Amino acid sequence: MSVPEYIELEGGDHLPRVGFGTWQAPPDVLEKAVEAALEAGYRHFDSARAYENEDALGRALNRWIGGDPAKRKKLFVVTKLPPSGNRPESVEEYFEASRRDLGLDYIDMYLIHVPFAFEHVPGDLHPKNPDGSMKMDHSTDLVGVWKKLLKLKESGRVRHVGVSNMNEEQLSRLCAVEKPACLQVEVHVLCQQKQLIAAANRLGIPIVAYSPLGSKELADALAAKTGRDYPNLLELPTVLKIAKAHSRTPAQVLLRYLLQHGVACIPKSTSPSRIKENISLWDFELTKNEMQELAALDRGENGRICDFAFFVGAEKHPEFPFKK
Ligand code: A2P
Repeated sequence: MSVPEYIELEGGDHLPRVGFGTWQAPPDVLEKAVEAALEAGYRHFDSARAYENEDALGRALNRWIGGDPAKRKKLFVVTKLPPSGNRPESVEEYFEASRRDLGLDYIDMYLIHVPFAFEHVPGDLHPKNPDGSMKMDHSTDLVGVWKKLLKLKESGRVRHVGVSNMNEEQLSRLCAVEKPACLQVEVHVLCQQKQLIAAANRLGIPIVAYSPLGSKELADALAAKTGRDYPNLLELPTVLKIAKAHSRTPAQVLLRYLLQHGVACIPKSTSPSRIKENISLWDFELTKNEMQELAALDRGENGRICDFAFFVGAEKHPEFPFKK
């Protein structure tokens, strides 16, 4: 089964199906990793205001662009409106801060990061109450925010707008105004999001998988906090067996599985050899049987890692997207 390397977007733009994830990469480490990623052939870079490292990504990208508009056009740069900017009147300010830190005239895709909102506290993207819970803003007007993103697109400062971490009902609500250009959600073998992906397919919205390898740093941090067991995806016996059969690595099997499912992915790595490995996915193919074996690993909602439990109080927000 051949997998196209790009998702075709409105206006003839191409979104590479393998992008480079930047979550949880400290700025100085990220800058070097982005250089390695450009060298390895990545052209899709996924970022977010909330990751607090857009400036490092911007520096590495701009060095590569070297002021050449033709090179800029080869890149597809994604960033996201943080939860603290989830109000129609805050969109402009937060978007401009991202554009400034990335050092780019235009952004290829801007996403609403999450459907819930934090209070706007200058200089603090993750404002907390004294008890450690988040300062939540329950007045969120998701459709109003979406309309503001569409205005940004009209202005030409962003070429495409989409969403992340939304559920089916929220997607339908936004689609009534205009269809998002993509939905970025957690997808991997333990959390395959079958129902949500089927809904997005019906709506014609492409899926981009975050945490495609199981975000080990996050899983370890959550395990330490909650005592919950998060299996290492890279050590699952089925994955190891299939990797051996193809003389590939477990990470390549996990990523190829998503691609053959029609899902784009944004693996994160700061190691040059793993960065290379994660984009070398086009010269092997999983069999129908292997695809079925991997499909059987799904744990549904129990397989979700990024459930936002680290944002204490978010689960009480009226737009909290996941089942409680
Ligand atoms: P590192 O940055 O040291 O390579 P995800 O993309 O699901 O968020 O997963 C990221 C995690 O997976 C990071 O801990 C990253 O570590 C690790 N990782 C990325 N690529 C590979 C790979 N090819 N093999 C093993 N671990 C990987």
